[in-house]
Amino acid sequence: MGYSIAIDGPAGAGKSTIAKLIAKERGCIYVDTGAMYRAMAIYFLRQGIAAEDEVAITEACKDIEVVIKYEGNVQNVYLNSENVTSILRTEEVGKMASASSVYGAVRAKLLDLQRKLAEDYDVVMDGRDIGTHVLPNADVKIYMTASVEERANRRYKELVEKGDTSADYEKIKADIAERDYRDMNREIAPLKQAEDAILLDTSDMSIEEVVNAIIAYCR
Ligand code: DC
Repeated sequence: MGYSIAIDGPAGAGKSTIAKLIAKERGCIYVDTGAMYRAMAIYFLRQGIAAEDEVAITEACKDIEVVIKYEGNVQNVYLNSENVTSILRTEEVGKMASASSVYGAVRAKLLDLQRKLAEDYDVVMDGRDIGTHVLPNADVKIYMTASVEERANRRYKELVEKGDTSADYEKIKADIAERDYRDMNREIAPLKQAEDAILLDTSDMSIEEVVNAIIAYCR
């Protein structure tokens, strides 16, 4: 078992930005577990399976193989041998990932993969259930959050900077609130702060402040 830093929190809290910087600083790998749920979501979308159809999703899980490779320290996700890394981050895929990750078959498929990575490497792993479920003995546990308004604002700015003229703040905010509700209220491994996790509300913190705070906890 390597050294592990678990970072959980809701969508848009800045987990991946921070986790990448911490991984660089500490020379360990960044494991993005959301990307694994997103890869599975791509498979369900391509098969035209409805998010509500647990039977079809459970059946489809048998045909999915998710493999993670670290190439130049960057995580690449392979879905049945296809590198899907560049197509993971769309709203459609994120929604399907949130909706399909409520099912036991989907979660079971990824649990061993995530634990194995933490066994083989020193990791900064982010997700929703890392400190509570995947790595209950993680060396450092962080629960990173920010207000819905702040998270929607960050996402809105990101889209505008990318030149997206149709970005709608109210819609982004509503989508984030819906995702929070689903991730926090599902039956299996819901998003919640582990009892021994450190709470970091990043609403009024700079990226540098958050990174420094976490690095200080790792000493
Ligand atoms: O972090 P993200 O937006 O890439 O995650 C997409 C969805 O995947 C998220 O809404 C819920 C699910 N997920 C999960 O259930 N458990 C994790 N450890 C990571 C993500």
